[in-house]
Amino acid sequence: MYLGIDLGTTSVKLLIMESNGQIIRTLSKSYDLIFPRPGWAEQNPDEWWNATQQAIKEILLGLDSTQLKGISFSGQMHGLVILDENDEVIRTAILWCDQRTEQECDYLNNEIGKEKIYEYTGNIALTGFTAPKLLWLKNHELENFRKIKKIMLPKDFLAYKLSGVFASDYSDASGMLLLNVREHRWSDEMLEIIGINKNQLPALYESYEVIGTIKSEHAVELGIPKTTKIIIGGGDQAVGAVGTGAVEEGIISVALGTSGVVFAPTDTYIVDAENRMHSFAHANGKYHQMGVMLSAAGALKWWVEDVHSTTDYALINREIATASDTGSLYFLPYLIGERTPHNDPQARGAFIGLALNHKRGEMSKAVIEGVSYALKDSLEILKSMGLSIIKVRISGGGSKSRIWNQLIADVFNLEIATIEVSEGPAFGAAILAAVGCGEYPSVISACRDIIRDKKIFYPDETKVDYYHEKYEIFRKLYPALRDTFKLV
Ligand code: XUL
Repeated sequence: MYLGIDLGTTSVKLLIMESNGQIIRTLSKSYDLIFPRPGWAEQNPDEWWNATQQAIKEILLGLDSTQLKGISFSGQMHGLVILDENDEVIRTAILWCDQRTEQECDYLNNEIGKEKIYEYTGNIALTGFTAPKLLWLKNHELENFRKIKKIMLPKDFLAYKLSGVFASDYSDASGMLLLNVREHRWSDEMLEIIGINKNQLPALYESYEVIGTIKSEHAVELGIPKTTKIIIGGGDQAVGAVGTGAVEEGIISVALGTSGVVFAPTDTYIVDAENRMHSFAHANGKYHQMGVMLSAAGALKWWVEDVHSTTDYALINREIATASDTGSLYFLPYLIGERTPHNDPQARGAFIGLALNHKRGEMSKAVIEGVSYALKDSLEILKSMGLSIIKVRISGGGSKSRIWNQLIADVFNLEIATIEVSEGPAFGAAILAAVGCGEYPSVISACRDIIRDKKIFYPDETKVDYYHEKYEIFRKLYPALRDTFKLV
């Protein structure tokens, strides 16, 4: 029996899996987000720990907990957790979606220079990444910066609490902008630029490696064997990709959550010459390319729940199904800025080409079309890098909509498969735990055995050209509007 723990932004999700990949039970516990100022987002790591302990106890109730062999993690990436010399949390964690580091990113990308940052890490500075957060701390909370004894990512904090081992993995560490991703080692140059040293950083492992066993005090309290292994796990995108079986070149995963991600495993380290994609290590020991859009299903949620004050998605879907073609109507989904491909925190959303015949159905359709075109931007970059695409698997809240899955198949002109299990990251974490405990020889073989397609959506030949033409127009809209966003 294996336990996967996904430390998300709104809740921690737990999943218990049998050795054969069968899911026994899932459970989630939510916690608060703190927004001290507009654009800032923080969380208290002790709340993560309390919620996780409670959730482990509850999920094991009534199960034979002596059968638990391993625990692994998936975690919200990039967040900055810092501990002092007494192992106390110094300040609340600054999260992946926090936008306070624009100046620090400017310094890294423009004064140090994108070329250098890219050479040292394989990526450029983005506001969400960890290194700019450390610089911000140095610039604004020097006293806290000076107290730092340990720097860790959110899921590493849980692993540390459970095992006492200060560890991280290559996939999650890739998002810190402190790792030389290609060579799987901390970048001395980046450490010097930020003003930290290696002793403050965790030891690095592959996501499926065992870092230790559970501390005996927790084993007793949680009622699990003292031999239970702790496997480090990885960042939620890489571990989510394990949960959807995107662990072999050619199998692409699209995650249609609040944010939208197009994720492509690569056997070797490759990069996009224009730095539009994230080049990170994968949880299978190799690499991946990833395009991240910030408002995907989140854009539809805003449109439906905030603008129309309803949660009746069935009604919205019926309106979309009976709407006329959107024609001249477009939606730009950059409601909180955008990462891939524009890397522009000031980008904003827009409806363009409205006409008198457009009602809510057409506008809702434009919203899901706009998100689908924005995902296609990442797909096109992957194709331009020479990556072959054999299969696309879709997951996340948005993939519950058949209309949206079909639209993505038409816009991508590719077959899109949903999968049996939708708890991607927690499932991926349980699979990593099983691999770490020797149940499967590798992450790839585990996924081949465990992951199953549910339904395949085929592109509708009569729609493909229409959406292709609209996509070509969509691509021209952001460059045309970019300067107007800056004026606001
Ligand atoms: C990935 C990213 C998000 C967070 C939160 O780069 O920022 O996926 O990990 O889920």
